[in-house]
Amino acid sequence: MSADLVQAAIAAMAKAYAPYSKFPVGAAVRGASGAVYAGCNVENAAYPQGCCAETSAISALVLGGETRLVEVAVAGPGDHLVTPCGGCRQRLREFAADAVKVHICGPEGLRRTVALGDLLPLSFGPQHLGGEGG
Ligand code: THU
Repeated sequence: MSADLVQAAIAAMAKAYAPYSKFPVGAAVRGASGAVYAGCNVENAAYPQGCCAETSAISALVLGGETRLVEVAVAGPGDHLVTPCGGCRQRLREFAADAVKVHICGPEGLRRTVALGDLLPLSFGPQHLGGEGG
């Protein structure tokens, strides 16, 4: 059920610290346990030190003792689909299979759902190094 994840991402968007871009983003990931972990973007006066919402949510997942995620939601403002940036696609891929659904949301709710493997095809991951991720 994605409704709770979508709502968590939208709620996280409202907590974003984005005084420079004025572009608040929220993200929520569901761990394999079923627990939901949310995050928001946290910008910095030294611009490159800012952190994406997806990265924050992944940190919460790991802090929660999980390293597998089974569903993702990202929420952002404006008319365009706010999809995860390239770096965050790779960060998500570390903990998720290609089939994992990524729900792209606006402030009003779900806009589109795509598979992580479609956002980052032919990706490099833990298996290349003998790991069990992905
Ligand atoms: N941002 C995210 O948090 N996630 C994305 O996938 C796209 C971009 C943030 C970074 C920055 O704080 C703001 O959106 C504008 O780029």
